[in-house]
Amino acid sequence: MNKLSLKLGLLFFAFLIMIELILFYFLYTGLVNSRIEDELTELRARGNSHRNILQKHFDRPTIFHVALMETEADTDVVITTHDGTIKAESDRLTPQMEEILQQERDSIPNEGLVVENRWKTELDISTVSPIIIDYQTVGYVYMFKDTTSIQNMISSLKQHFFLVGTLAILVTIISIFFLTRVITLPLIQMTQVTKSLSKGDFSVTLNEIRSNDELGELSRSIHKLAEDLHYIKEQRNEFLASISHELRTPLTYIKGYADLAEREGVTEEERNKYLTIIHEEATHISRLVKDLFELAKIDQHSFTIQLEEVNLNIFLNNLVKKMKPAFANKGIQLNLYYEEEIFVLIDTDRFEQVFVNLLDNSLKYSKSKEVVDIKVNLNDQHVFISVIDFGEGIPNTDLPYIFDRLYRVDKSRARKSGGTGLGLAIVKEIVEAHGGVVTASSTLGKGTKITIQLERS
Ligand SMILES: Nc1ncnc2c1ncn2[C@@H]1O[C@H](COP(=O)(O)OP(=O)(O)OP(=O)(O)O)[C@@H](O)[C@H]1O
Ligand SMILES: [Mg+2]
Repeated sequence: MNKLSLKLGLLFFAFLIMIELILFYFLYTGLVNSRIEDELTELRARGNSHRNILQKHFDRPTIFHVALMETEADTDVVITTHDGTIKAESDRLTPQMEEILQQERDSIPNEGLVVENRWKTELDISTVSPIIIDYQTVGYVYMFKDTTSIQNMISSLKQHFFLVGTLAILVTIISIFFLTRVITLPLIQMTQVTKSLSKGDFSVTLNEIRSNDELGELSRSIHKLAEDLHYIKEQRNEFLASISHELRTPLTYIKGYADLAEREGVTEEERNKYLTIIHEEATHISRLVKDLFELAKIDQHSFTIQLEEVNLNIFLNNLVKKMKPAFANKGIQLNLYYEEEIFVLIDTDRFEQVFVNLLDNSLKYSKSKEVVDIKVNLNDQHVFISVIDFGEGIPNTDLPYIFDRLYRVDKSRARKSGGTGLGLAIVKEIVEAHGGVVTASSTLGKGTKITIQLERS
């Protein structure tokens, strides 16, 4: 039994028991009262029927006959005259009976009257019916009934109630037990799952996922969380592995060529060659570290984007002007196309980096005599800025991964061109920090198109 179901169970129990007690109380008192009522009505009716006979023949033999009839029944009768003189009785009088007989009787209704109903404390309950002849009350018929039979009946009723009550409590406890289990079990399962999640065990399964209520929703969220965490953890491990791999290669080169350069008998020319390689590799490492640092900053959200409203055409024009020489060097033409003036909310420094990275790729992966286009398109809500080249393109199998960190289509080729595989990852982070989306489409051997989608300001 866990804490939650115990709490819930006790709460349910207290609540249900209270309701059951109240119901039982009303049922019991209602039953008892109506039983007593029945007894009294019956007794009075019996008295009335005796009285009816006596009204017709108020003489000795009839009186005697009536009294005789009652000696065999479990009720008793006492017949008196108007002034209280006892004419006949079916049994010996008890002190309580005498007390009742001595009470003053005035204007008793024809249908009779209950004179004693205290069944709990008295020995008898009692009614009286008047004998009226020619509009004159000439006597009374007193009826008595022993209360022990009533008390027996009530006590057996009590026993029944006790039995049913105990059963009800038992059923309540059992159903509460199962109910709270049904409610709390998934919660407990989820607690265990989240516990093992925090310990790093992602192989969790929750079987409540099918239900459509809030609990199902919660377990779906937890499941998703577990998957995400798992993914993040795997990504991190992969990332660390690739970083150390990335660093190991240039470091091996550096160490190897440094060893070679140190050797005796190396010509000046050879040594210079080695030093150049060492320098190149060191540059590569420092670029890698710089880019990684950049990404880490973006990840921690410690970099704030300084949004400003910029005329996109002017911004891109300046950029193209800056980049043109590099493209011209390789004999590639860089064009800019746009439909109309448009303003966007961007961080210009960051966005310059975005386009430098994209154009750098296009330049790197295009042959000379080709063109690279920047095109701006609009719809009602969005601005689409595309960088299009007609270079070597990206294989379909690699396309989904090019925005991943350290991902390069062709590792050896990229090494030659000095790529680290972080350029597009940085692009993606920056664009998403602006609330934008970046997508890529490419055909191997035909070219690549990278599109940035931003909200119109
Ligand atoms: N325009 C393109 N044409 C062909 N392949 C591309 C293009 N842009 C990206 N790629 C492929 O996607 C990979 C990832 O690109 P990304 O810019 O992230 O890394 P990189 O260019 O290799 O290195 P870095 O940009 O850090 O110098 C590249 O290695 C390349 O294989
Ligand atoms: Mg790049």
